[in-house]
Amino acid sequence: MTAIRTVSTTPFADQKPGTSGLRKKVSVFQQPHYLENFVQALFDTLGSCRGQTLVLGGDGRYYNDIAAQTILKLAAAAGYSRVLVGLNGLLSTPAASAVIRKYSASGGIILSASHNPGGVNGDFGIKYNISNGGPAPEKVTDAVYERSKSIDHYRILEGDDVALERLGEIRLGAMVVEVVDPVQDYADLMGTLFDFDRIRELLTSNRFTMRFDAMHAITGPYAHAILEDELGAAAGSVMNGQPLPDFGGGHPDPNLAHAEELVALLSRGDGPQFGAAADGDGDRNMILGRGVFVSPSDSLAMLTANADLVPGYRAGLTGVARSMPTSQAVDRVAAKLGISCYETPTGWKFFGNLLDADMATLCGEESFGTGSNHIREKDGLWAVLFWLNVLAARGQSVAEIVHQHWAEFGRNYYSRHDYEALDIDAANGIIEHLRAQMQMLPGQSFGGRQVSLADDFAYTDPVDHSVSQHQGIRIGFSDSARIIFRLSGTGTEGATLRIYLEAYESNQTKLNLDTQDVLADLIAIAKQLTDIEQRTGRKSPTVIT
Ligand code: G1P
Ligand code: ZN
Repeated sequence: MTAIRTVSTTPFADQKPGTSGLRKKVSVFQQPHYLENFVQALFDTLGSCRGQTLVLGGDGRYYNDIAAQTILKLAAAAGYSRVLVGLNGLLSTPAASAVIRKYSASGGIILSASHNPGGVNGDFGIKYNISNGGPAPEKVTDAVYERSKSIDHYRILEGDDVALERLGEIRLGAMVVEVVDPVQDYADLMGTLFDFDRIRELLTSNRFTMRFDAMHAITGPYAHAILEDELGAAAGSVMNGQPLPDFGGGHPDPNLAHAEELVALLSRGDGPQFGAAADGDGDRNMILGRGVFVSPSDSLAMLTANADLVPGYRAGLTGVARSMPTSQAVDRVAAKLGISCYETPTGWKFFGNLLDADMATLCGEESFGTGSNHIREKDGLWAVLFWLNVLAARGQSVAEIVHQHWAEFGRNYYSRHDYEALDIDAANGIIEHLRAQMQMLPGQSFGGRQVSLADDFAYTDPVDHSVSQHQGIRIGFSDSARIIFRLSGTGTEGATLRIYLEAYESNQTKLNLDTQDVLADLIAIAKQLTDIEQRTGRKSPTVIT
């Protein structure tokens, strides 16, 4: 039975994709027609899907399986000729990007709410990636939103669910569903970039131990296959490696607050030499050495400085890019290498054009995201393998590499303070209040620091010249310290205000201070400028990273 049914529907007003796709509570997606409307709005926006190939997979969170079946039936009705779907409907975000590129698919749908908690009361999400393997640009997501506001029907194939538990091809109406190994293509790609022999030597030496925390999310199977099976890391090097629909009740965000067990292990004097974690859909990473945390901004700078040790990047980097709130540590490395450094708005989609045009090779965000031109998403395990390659090539510890880097380039002390679940009006009020002060700030002094720049960051893409306005309030000081304020575009509860703080230090005697102490003056300035306590009743941030 493979009839195509046309179902009438009415629009939902809240289907505007954010920084990374449409992200809502599971209960929102469970409303009748909600998912169907959005996917049909996407297909309508893309134009004719007839004869094309789509990639489909997700991070395995609650509702992944149900949504995958619905999307397959909508895709069949839309005329796709083939859908490549990961075994059991699973694909990490970086693997989906790799598969789209390898098989020249017209695009892909990724089911994920990234690092947000999962489970029946958690979050779900859906995002569309275009044929370069990267997140759809704003012009596409805006058009999908417009379409979602007027949609009155969708088309769906009637039929049984497709068995996604076995590799191979299955017919769904006129469409072929090909169930693919979610790990193999990705693992092969990693093997072309890194010196696997050298990493294997390190991981099998009895002087080196490591832990990779998959946080009960999608990277478990990838890490088992690559780190343990292929590269010989001892069994048990991968922790929390079994993906669970609710991530074991945890918050699959690889940072100091949420990867507690790993952080505790690495802070022990006899702990492993290297620790890392990845998020729900595998695109974020956290890097730790024994007794040392590598901030994501520093990690980008250090990977850039050491790229010549890695086979895939030995030929040189064309340039680097970082999101605007990411620290300026990488700028200093780029200057030394004599390559361009681009400052883009928050969100990986802004790196796509730079990578496609070969203007940047490595990219990164302060939010635990690093990646390169090998795909068009950030990539958690890639960052882990890059660090392992550097450790193996230099024969030094993470701490030694970090301290030598700071000694050479100076240190950008950096922290992000998040105020979550704020009243939306109060949060918007803070941004308005900052905008109102902006013009008066340049030239003013705060505790010995003079404001040299205050603006509402706007970005003109150097490739397609599209302009993105209102990407965060930026306050720069003459000593290159910065405070940045922006509202999150991925939250699902109220508003989240993010305050990014950065201070540069090159004095060799001041490179090992406590980050929050160093940033205390800037934190006080941020509180003063936002009037946050008065406006929200909050005395301190919800999360500090
Ligand atoms: C957050 C991060 C951003 C990242 C995005 C998707 O977005 O800040 O860097 O690209 O998640 O992982 P935000 O909630 O700040 O809009
Ligand atoms: Zn993610």
